[in-house]
Amino acid sequence: MAGHETAVVLLAAGKGTRMKSDLPKVLHRLAGKPLVNHALDAAAALAPSQCVVVVGPGMEDVAAAVAPHPVAVQAKQQGTGDAVLAAREALSGFGDGSDGATILVLYADTPMIGPDTLARMIAARQAGAQVVVLGFRPQDPAEYGRLVLDGSGALEAIVEYRDADEAQRAINLCNSGVMAVSAGRLWELLDRVGNDNAKGEYYLTDIVALARGDGAGCAVVEGEEREVLGINSRNDLAAAEAVWQTARRARAMADGATLIDPATVWFAHDTEIGRDVTIGPSVFFGSGVTVADGAEIHAFCHLDGVAIGPGASVGPFARLRPGAKIGEGARVGNFVEVKNAVLGAGAKANHLSYVGDSDVGAGANIGAGTITCNYDGYLKHRTEIGEGAFIGSNTALVAPVRVGKGAITGAGSTITKDVPEDSIAVSRGRHSVLEGAAKAYRERKSREKAARKKEG
Ligand code: UD1
Ligand code: MG
Repeated sequence: MAGHETAVVLLAAGKGTRMKSDLPKVLHRLAGKPLVNHALDAAAALAPSQCVVVVGPGMEDVAAAVAPHPVAVQAKQQGTGDAVLAAREALSGFGDGSDGATILVLYADTPMIGPDTLARMIAARQAGAQVVVLGFRPQDPAEYGRLVLDGSGALEAIVEYRDADEAQRAINLCNSGVMAVSAGRLWELLDRVGNDNAKGEYYLTDIVALARGDGAGCAVVEGEEREVLGINSRNDLAAAEAVWQTARRARAMADGATLIDPATVWFAHDTEIGRDVTIGPSVFFGSGVTVADGAEIHAFCHLDGVAIGPGASVGPFARLRPGAKIGEGARVGNFVEVKNAVLGAGAKANHLSYVGDSDVGAGANIGAGTITCNYDGYLKHRTEIGEGAFIGSNTALVAPVRVGKGAITGAGSTITKDVPEDSIAVSRGRHSVLEGAAKAYRERKSREKAARKKEG
């Protein structure tokens, strides 16, 4: 936030045992992006001067996912307070211990947090609170920590569920885990946190009561439950994905796209959709897809790393893979796979084809069953098809190979050599007709069968 120095500590050291996975929990994906990167991206909107990710020993894959942000290793998982302390060295000197600077603590397993909410927390810090906690009112408060307020509505303490009495458990204002703390106070508060509690852990949440004991102001900012959904299991992950997708579908429609059956369209974190785009039922977007204005994606398409040009038509049942560029008004029809290939404006591949590692000129027509044979078992090679060329049905184009502008290949041809502009290439067995031969064949075979029956 303008004029307010902020550093972020993102806690990701948890083992995530409830995921029952060999992959660290925070590398599981939501909308195609690892959980840990969702929280990082929300934090990035605040333009923090530093961002440290706390990981457990041996979590090199998490470190790689968050690079170039530095990681701090929490040697033993002794609670959230201990986890934040692991980042102390990396943040030494941050804000010169000033009360004007903020350390924001985020959990990597809480990926739906939005930059606006974080900005509200920084604003509460600027208004004077030394510890700001993001609270929410869940439908089922379950085992979340409870936020205890004083008579004036200010935050007095956070009590963990296991340590709470009946009256405290009845409180429905809960701790999301997100905290914004004065950089001048955080470390000395954490130094005073003990582990005399139900879990025997060092709780970050204890700093609220400690700060209040010192006479410091603590505040609650309230957020929506859907924003602070914590992911502990694969069921939680699926539930978060559903919430994310519902919001993204609504945004696509608000921005001027038609979704024929919104509930069956799956977007990725970075999908870009233009105006007057129509998306049919059961379309899946992997990462890196852009769809320009007026394009239509028919039902049952799987798209990944592809740019679809204005007014283009894709599917039904098309598979567009990374590096595909579909030009303005181009058409990719059913059971067509396109990979690392450019289709020029108005080009058509309408049926049952594989177009890989290719450049297809404007207005070219790729007949049904065409295959670019791009792989020789060792290397990939390119196929070039010139503007306005006509590739006959069931042509095998053995790359590297070029078909010139306006050239034609005969149906069923296997093209292994370049075809010059405006020529016709045919490469298939000669057509020969044996008149009456079929009838003669049948008669001969019937006689043979009858003779065999007689022999018994
Ligand atoms: C925590 C809060 C609770 C809050 C809840 C919200 C504490 C003491 N309690 O409880 O008030 O309602 O989150 O979801 O903070 N982690 C580490 N190292 C550790 C322990 C945890 O890095 O030693 C990380 C985990 O990877 C996770 C986060 O901290 O990202 C939260 O830890 P978790 O054990 O899930 O805390 P909760 O019991 O859910
Ligand atoms: Mg948790």
